[in-house]
Amino acid sequence: MAPGRVSPTVQDEPINPYNGGYLKTSHGINHDYGTTKAGGTTDILEKQMSQKFGDWRDDFFTNGYTVVKGAIPRERAIQYRERAMEWFQKFDFGFDINDKSTWTQEHLPVMMNGGMIMGYSATHEKWVWEARCEPGVIEPFAKLWGTDELLVSFDAVNITLPGRTDVRWTPWPHIDQSPTRKGLVCAQGIINLSEAGPMDGGLQLLQGSSELFERFFIENPPRPKAKDAPGQFDWYGFTLEEVEWFKNNGCKLIKVEAEPGDVIIWDSRTVHYASLPKSEIIRTIIYATYTPANLATPEDVALKADIFRRWEGTTHWPHCNIFAQGKAMRGDILCPGERDEPLEKPELTDQVLKLAGVLPY
Ligand SMILES: [Fe+2]
Repeated sequence: MAPGRVSPTVQDEPINPYNGGYLKTSHGINHDYGTTKAGGTTDILEKQMSQKFGDWRDDFFTNGYTVVKGAIPRERAIQYRERAMEWFQKFDFGFDINDKSTWTQEHLPVMMNGGMIMGYSATHEKWVWEARCEPGVIEPFAKLWGTDELLVSFDAVNITLPGRTDVRWTPWPHIDQSPTRKGLVCAQGIINLSEAGPMDGGLQLLQGSSELFERFFIENPPRPKAKDAPGQFDWYGFTLEEVEWFKNNGCKLIKVEAEPGDVIIWDSRTVHYASLPKSEIIRTIIYATYTPANLATPEDVALKADIFRRWEGTTHWPHCNIFAQGKAMRGDILCPGERDEPLEKPELTDQVLKLAGVLPY
């Protein structure tokens, strides 16, 4: 596969007006765009937009996304995927990977849109932290930001089973940046552990939408956040008509292709959502974003460290927009399979503690 190759996709599914399947948080907090104290805005990336680097950064700044090939050696990425599947099979809901009749929500951990696992301390499992500490994963972010004194997000993992018959899936086009936060501020990432070819599950995005971010919200003032929308500050969902606005203004819906060990990095202003697998491959990824530690306020660092100590997940943003995902809810009740700590805790190295905001640089 050529580096960073993408394939066009045809999108004909209707878009759910509520942007599909977002999970309730156990704490019920929903931050408003107008009144939330946001912090964390910076022009470090914005200032580089007109430069030429001769590497993947040119793609990132031109197209709003890039694929960093082989950030983790393929063999090791496959080992992470195997560890992910071992972990996934340890939930006690009756899931049997060899019996597809058990590939239903009642036999699986609570997941958003058929794959994102935000609860169960998933994002703090040893295999997840080890992947996040891979030098080849951190290096591109250190290059973007001009420092290796970074914080990392602990947002979620995604294990999407193909051929689920019980998921009423609809696209959920969104951005992970508040409409009230201006400019290119966050470069979010995926550590890709499974094949993401044209028929496999993966990231879809509207190429060119990041550049239209401010114009869109001038012409279409932000709507109040729906009650069932994700509660964090840096998030905004779009309707089908709004997606058409982006397409009419030159954006192309593309599916990002990647192999095990690649890291996908995209501008958080890029409209995106996932596609479900049409192949037999189980989509397996870790979300991971890194930003400079010195961009975080002392309050946000303290909040982040506190969430780490509780082994909970946050958002795609490492240094601000710190928002605890709480515990997984099964309907209106706390999922009986919830935990207070990961099944296998990470080794608390200085690197882990610094990336988590627990130790200062
Ligand atoms: Fe997102």
